[in-house]
Amino acid sequence: MRTHYCTEVTEKNIGETVTVAGWVNSRRDHGGIIFIDLRDKGGLVQLVADPQDSKEALEVAETVRDEFVLIATGKVRARGEGLENPNLITGKIEIVVDNLVIENKSKPMPFDLNDEKVNDEIKLRNRFLELRSRKSYEIFQLRSKATIQVRNTLDELGFLDVETPILTKSTPEGARDYLVPSRVHGGEFYALPQSPQLFKQLLMVSGFDKYFQIAKCFRDEDLRADRQPEFTQIDVEMSFCDQEDVIKVAEKLIYDVFTKCGKDVPSTFPRITYAEAMEKYGSDKPDLRFDMPMVDVIDIFANSTNEIFADIAKDKAHNRIKAIKCPNGDNIFSKRQMKGFEDYVRKFGAKGLGYFQMKEDGLKGPLTKFFSEADLEEIVKVTELEVGDVVFFGAGHKKVVCDYMGRFRLYLAEQMDIIPADAYEFVWVVDFPMFEIEDGKIKALHHPFTMPKDLNKENIEEIESIAYDIVLNGTELGGGSIRIHKEHIQSEVFSLMGISEEEAQSKFGFLLDALKYGAPSHGGFAMGLDRMIMLLAGTDSIRDVIAFPKTQKAQCLMTQAPSEVDAEQLKELSLRIRKTEQ
Ligand code: AMO
Repeated sequence: MRTHYCTEVTEKNIGETVTVAGWVNSRRDHGGIIFIDLRDKGGLVQLVADPQDSKEALEVAETVRDEFVLIATGKVRARGEGLENPNLITGKIEIVVDNLVIENKSKPMPFDLNDEKVNDEIKLRNRFLELRSRKSYEIFQLRSKATIQVRNTLDELGFLDVETPILTKSTPEGARDYLVPSRVHGGEFYALPQSPQLFKQLLMVSGFDKYFQIAKCFRDEDLRADRQPEFTQIDVEMSFCDQEDVIKVAEKLIYDVFTKCGKDVPSTFPRITYAEAMEKYGSDKPDLRFDMPMVDVIDIFANSTNEIFADIAKDKAHNRIKAIKCPNGDNIFSKRQMKGFEDYVRKFGAKGLGYFQMKEDGLKGPLTKFFSEADLEEIVKVTELEVGDVVFFGAGHKKVVCDYMGRFRLYLAEQMDIIPADAYEFVWVVDFPMFEIEDGKIKALHHPFTMPKDLNKENIEEIESIAYDIVLNGTELGGGSIRIHKEHIQSEVFSLMGISEEEAQSKFGFLLDALKYGAPSHGGFAMGLDRMIMLLAGTDSIRDVIAFPKTQKAQCLMTQAPSEVDAEQLKELSLRIRKTEQ
């Protein structure tokens, strides 16, 4: 229908007759002459309906309202001096319309597309309208570009794109499953995949050698700004490889995608062990856009005359006393703000938050009286304090202290506004523990198919795995591991986790069986595509980069999913609903 997209009409076309199509972005009536900004996917062009050129076109233009769909034909002319709009690609020209067709009308919009402050509920209910905004279109252009680059790079590296089932059996990735009832097998359920983990391992047993998939995954878990119940992974697996081989593929992929999307990133990334990340940053996804590491001061505090600190310092195996330097904090923050910091860490289990101020004549603060001059000097030395700095410290159980001091580090950096918005700081976190103990239960830190380095350790928490996560700006972008390819190791891991032989057989019998038929060594990774686009686009919500996302409560406000179903459908599925009080 059209000869040009709106933004393709430029000075080159002056004098030509063109046809454009799109939506009315705005309409202005200048006493008998009507100006319309017409919008399509690329941007805007100005239409002019002037009775001197076409009375009919003006009559139609008078009835036009915002968001009507128009097809307009007319001659391109220069706007004339002083009337140009430097903010538009098409700002030097306009189309004088002689034929204007209203292809469809529009009700008034439920919200203003350009208003960023509109309530999320209204936007999500009308997501197809929100997607008309320039910002949305640009995000999906970026997503498309990145996805195509993923396919190109992996194809170039010899990976085969294979689809795996959506109706399947549960793979444990730490969340609840979404279940789908079977009609044919009443009372039985499929699980939607939390990831294609087991299928990709089976494809290695099949000899496919290098697999990838842009895979939909489903996890019923508490949602956050970077979590959706339904999301997309770039899923990769390869045979006869070690950790270095896998990391190389991931680095090339990230480099290619980010470069394609116009971001300047290095081609290899630094590494940090899990243990160091926890001790220095209190997190297995450290944000390295700023430094401010946590410093261990437990040995110095052991000499303190304060009983609480001295007691905590006695048990170095289980406890920590960590300090964080806040450069120039004495001049930036008031006493009241410092008190607010204490309230912040208390939310995460801190009993308090101590601090010293570095003055001209040494450390000051209510707690200095518990320390000798030499120890105070030592604190200044290890935390590298200069006049004007403040040093905060937290003391207590290792896990709790590292967690709240790690959060505090981020909080402080935000308050100080020192996190560069346009930096991309990647880091590999390596040497993860194989297991963690949660509520007395042994759980796999990644998943139970991860290859342990050495299972023969007395303390199960000291067993390391060949697993690695790639972290970008404090967000876990992806993770992977070398997998167990020997049946006896897999069985031993299940057994350590308290999974009985029968349970292992019933849940993962197909995997255990496959490992008996010449399974090659293999490993891989998965990266969150949505998270990657979120970081590339510089938005702070994963919802912005998913065409039709769900709310925090896992609902689609547009289609009203989830919803009740007919009694007939339930009957067919051998289901009966029992209503419970919410
Ligand atoms: P993992 O569970 O770490 O590993 O997931 C890999 C990556 O997927 C993304 N991700 C999510 N993105 C949005 N919403 C969610 N709910 C969500 N959950 C995870 C993250 C994460 O780093 N099978 C293994 C990978 C492997 O070992 O190969 C797996 O799924 O960016």
